[in-house]
Amino acid sequence: MTTLTWTEAAPGVWRATIGDSQALTPLSLIGADPRLEALKQMAKANPPFEWEEVRVDNSVSGRQMLTLPLSANEKLYGTGLQFMRMNQRGRTRYLRVNSDPKQDTGETHAPVPFYVSDRGYGVLIDTARAVTMHLGSALRLDETSAEDAKDRNRDAKWRATLPSARAEVRLPEEGADIYVFGGPSLGDAVSRYNLFCGGGTLPPKWGLGFWHRVPTLFNEEEALAEAMEFRRRDYPCDVIGLEPGWHSRSYPVTYEWDAERFPAPERFVRKLADNGFRVNLWEHPYVSPESELYPALKPLSGNYSVWGGLAPDYALPEARELYAKQHKEKHVAIGVSGYKLDECDGSELTNNSWMFPEHARFPSGLDGEQMRQVYGLMFQKMTNDLYRADNLRTCGLVRASNAAASSLPYVLYSDLYDHKQFIRALCNSSFSGLLWSPEVRRARSAEDWVRRMQTVCFSPLAMLNAWGDGTKPWSYPEVEPIIRRYIKLRMRLQPYLYTAFAAYHEKGIPPFRAMPFVVTPEELVHAEQQRMEAEKLNTTDGAYGKRVIPQWDDQYMFGDSLLVAPLVEGESERDVLLPSGSWIGFETGERHEGGGVIRVRAGLDTIPIFVRDGAVIPMMASQPHALRPGEKTQLEFVHFGSVAGSCLLYDDDGVTLDHENGACGWWKAEVTKTEEGGFQGVLSGDSKLPASYSSVKWRFAAIGLALHDE
Ligand code: GAL
Repeated sequence: MTTLTWTEAAPGVWRATIGDSQALTPLSLIGADPRLEALKQMAKANPPFEWEEVRVDNSVSGRQMLTLPLSANEKLYGTGLQFMRMNQRGRTRYLRVNSDPKQDTGETHAPVPFYVSDRGYGVLIDTARAVTMHLGSALRLDETSAEDAKDRNRDAKWRATLPSARAEVRLPEEGADIYVFGGPSLGDAVSRYNLFCGGGTLPPKWGLGFWHRVPTLFNEEEALAEAMEFRRRDYPCDVIGLEPGWHSRSYPVTYEWDAERFPAPERFVRKLADNGFRVNLWEHPYVSPESELYPALKPLSGNYSVWGGLAPDYALPEARELYAKQHKEKHVAIGVSGYKLDECDGSELTNNSWMFPEHARFPSGLDGEQMRQVYGLMFQKMTNDLYRADNLRTCGLVRASNAAASSLPYVLYSDLYDHKQFIRALCNSSFSGLLWSPEVRRARSAEDWVRRMQTVCFSPLAMLNAWGDGTKPWSYPEVEPIIRRYIKLRMRLQPYLYTAFAAYHEKGIPPFRAMPFVVTPEELVHAEQQRMEAEKLNTTDGAYGKRVIPQWDDQYMFGDSLLVAPLVEGESERDVLLPSGSWIGFETGERHEGGGVIRVRAGLDTIPIFVRDGAVIPMMASQPHALRPGEKTQLEFVHFGSVAGSCLLYDDDGVTLDHENGACGWWKAEVTKTEEGGFQGVLSGDSKLPASYSSVKWRFAAIGLALHDE
């Protein structure tokens, strides 16, 4: 066992190198500068353990094992976009990119080798290789006592996994850089990680509007007609996504417009822009022999094919240039606003297996394992850079990601479709610098439709992905008014949501946060016990000793002041863990005391959302699409409840990168009590009014947003 040499890489961030530092890792690939100023301003963090307690053992099967201490009841979160559980303590995580994360093994679209502890620190392994983390799941013989061996059939205390007091990480053969992020709180450790990775992304304003993807093989006229239907029916919509079929060939792909379905792409994009829509193009990495790029990319590609196409090596600058030039000319120059980067994760499903193998070789020297782990990151970076070159922001979707992605304007999605798993993924993504869309595609019933739409409207990216089902927001006429109201409510909350993303960008605070960010570990344990009693759950389940500990992985914070607790089909009530303080039903106006678990009922027309007493929420009138530069509307500060309060508001032009050079501002809205016992509001900040707003309206002591209120 050897110890490591640690250096402080940034305030509260420590690094040690095991073996050789690798040239291509997630951090080096993204290459974002750490936000040192913001890191300096955070509360001072001390190393979370004695450095001697972190050890490397290279006597095990030729691989270096990193060992870190864990304390008795410590919980660990993160490891990327996990669908099956929130607390990863006691689990072995195989952090390998895979498009079908149907089992709780750790494999997923975005397996980030970063975990955070409820003791307030985080650990990152910066590598392009797949990593195995035993997060307190591997018990050494010399740590085992005779009492640990119990009889499975007769002893209810039998456990499949005995608790271990260490995390063990199987490192790549070449070695890797290890980073430890200090707290003091779990949220601080995550913020430090995000700031170290360049700060969270600030999407363009239109990225926060509603997205609709039209069916496969739609042509120009069909796509335009569907877009205009949103305007005619008074549904806000910002982005129209094209799915396979806009290309001349899709699997493998040409990246060229199909001459029959889209004879005049520039005209198509312009017509949509004239009506306030952006265009997002679906694509994937594997280049068709019919693509004009094929001959030049062939010598710059891996030695295995996917679907008969090339898997280009974008670690090579020449390959990146070819891709960028073609995309710039054919898409960006005519006004396309971004991409959906599909299929960059690979699959081993028995009936649908596709990806280059681990032993594939790429001209840059990377092998198939490394390329698969970072392919999604490469596409995010290349496409983002296309827009950065024009001083524009993009916003898109991606199906594979990894560490260091915080600063990239991409949101993950999946072909999975379990609503509860989708909510859990939303919670879990907040620990790893990721964003997730619980996209809606179809529904079993009008009720399922409403519940899914309610969730997606309170998520990082509100999207209907109708590629295969042809659904529209109005597909269930009996619930149309509810759907329209929630899409509009998302639009009305744009000032609040945009400000939450600005805090992600500047302070590293995720805009959507799981409960461990806002309650203490002790409060969480207490709430788990309450839930266990309420739901009459046993700690053991049958002869296999499976432990059933309820997790609060089905509710989350949306910005600083709103707590969202979605319902799924078949539910009309649920338990909600409310952090301490008083809370008010955002739409119902009902008052609740926090500091524990409450039971709430909600009809189909309501998603349970709670707002802190005294919170001030910046809102605006619903618009057909996000405000474009120069467009203005009225700003409304809605103050809830009975005590004074304040909020921050951020604004900039919403589309360019000028904010990086200071063309942006922060305002503070402060609500205080008057002598007569009423309330008054004052707005102060960088100028009298943010440029996007023509006037300010105040609403005090709101009991709840009236349901009919638009
Ligand atoms: C899938 C993707 C879907 C849709 C489809 C089109 O891989 O997850 O959202 O884009 O491809 O073929």
